Amino acid sequence: MKVIVTGGTGYIGSHTIVDLLNHNFEVVCIDNLSRSKKYALEGIEQITGKKPIFYQIDLCDKEAVSKVFQEHKDAIGIIHFAALKSVPESVEQPLLYYANNINSLVNVLQAIHTYQIPNFVFSSSCSVYGNADTLPVTETTTIQTAESPYAHTKQIGEDIIYNFSKAHPFHQNILLRYFNPVGAHPSALIGEIPLEKPNNLVPYITQTAIGKLQQLTVFGNDYNTRDGSNIRDYIHVCDIAHAHTLALQYLIDKKNATTVEVFNLGTGKGVSVLEAIAAFEKVSNQKLNYIIGPRRAGDVVAVYADKTKASTHLDWHCQYTLEDAMLSAWKWELKMQELF
Ligand code: UFG
Repeated sequence: MKVIVTGGTGYIGSHTIVDLLNHNFEVVCIDNLSRSKKYALEGIEQITGKKPIFYQIDLCDKEAVSKVFQEHKDAIGIIHFAALKSVPESVEQPLLYYANNINSLVNVLQAIHTYQIPNFVFSSSCSVYGNADTLPVTETTTIQTAESPYAHTKQIGEDIIYNFSKAHPFHQNILLRYFNPVGAHPSALIGEIPLEKPNNLVPYITQTAIGKLQQLTVFGNDYNTRDGSNIRDYIHVCDIAHAHTLALQYLIDKKNATTVEVFNLGTGKGVSVLEAIAAFEKVSNQKLNYIIGPRRAGDVVAVYADKTKASTHLDWHCQYTLEDAMLSAWKWELKMQELF
């Protein structure tokens, strides 16, 4: 069965392609390489022994999108990752985020409708919940105001898919709301490749440990949490990747009760920033150079998932621990020294 993956050379996209190929899907990968490297395709091939078909196109180019979808209208589904994802960048350049993330989604939905591709899986984010008023967050937790233009594009994207599905109920859709994806494939052949200075905690940790960055700042230790630092739900990227294969199969098997279903993808466990650092230090045998600094604007105090729905409906269960994720992130950082 053929599946089209947009943003397939990116962080979660590349890990998902590995999982799809390992489950015997044929993959067509689309990416404009604006925030990723073609190297990901080599890593995917080394891990799986298989090669996805690749198109370097921009999803904002409606004609180019239509052409690829016409060529692959026999696809059983599409997994749509391609999007810009930096929270601070979205605050500085909101229009870039609205133009890119919304136009690309509209073009993809138009194409799947034109070529009658039945199943659609969308990369959403726990950032759609904003500052949730109850924890853990379930799929029915009230959506609050988005904290950033990035998060707003994910809220708008979800609304577009709901309205699309009302008008065109032939299409079956799943929205996957990721918590904090971290780590890399255990082979260290693919992983996240930050093209600029990272904003996210784990690449910041590994780049500090290897000496690319001088020092990590923990953004605040005066929050009302067990050790004063923020709490997040860090989930191994390979667990996130496998959830996409299961979600697609769930739609193919027509197990969905409604035309749009939503799943949280998190471990269900909240981990503080200081605990995450301690886990990294333990598995890597590195002493991390860090200081406590002021709070970062826009950070929510604590957020973690209720994952019951994905466990029961998709039969999805995390295979990796936080320590596994930290060790794989470290191995990937070391590997990148050889590669780039
Ligand atoms: N942190 C630090 N120092 C750093 C970087 C991060 O202390 O140098 C802290 C943050 O304050 C936060 C935690 O580490 O408490 C995690 O921060 P990340 O930037 O890694 O992740 P966020 O939770 O802020 O954001 C992530 C993704 C977004 C997504 C969001 C959903 O980056 O794309 O989760 O909550 F929208």
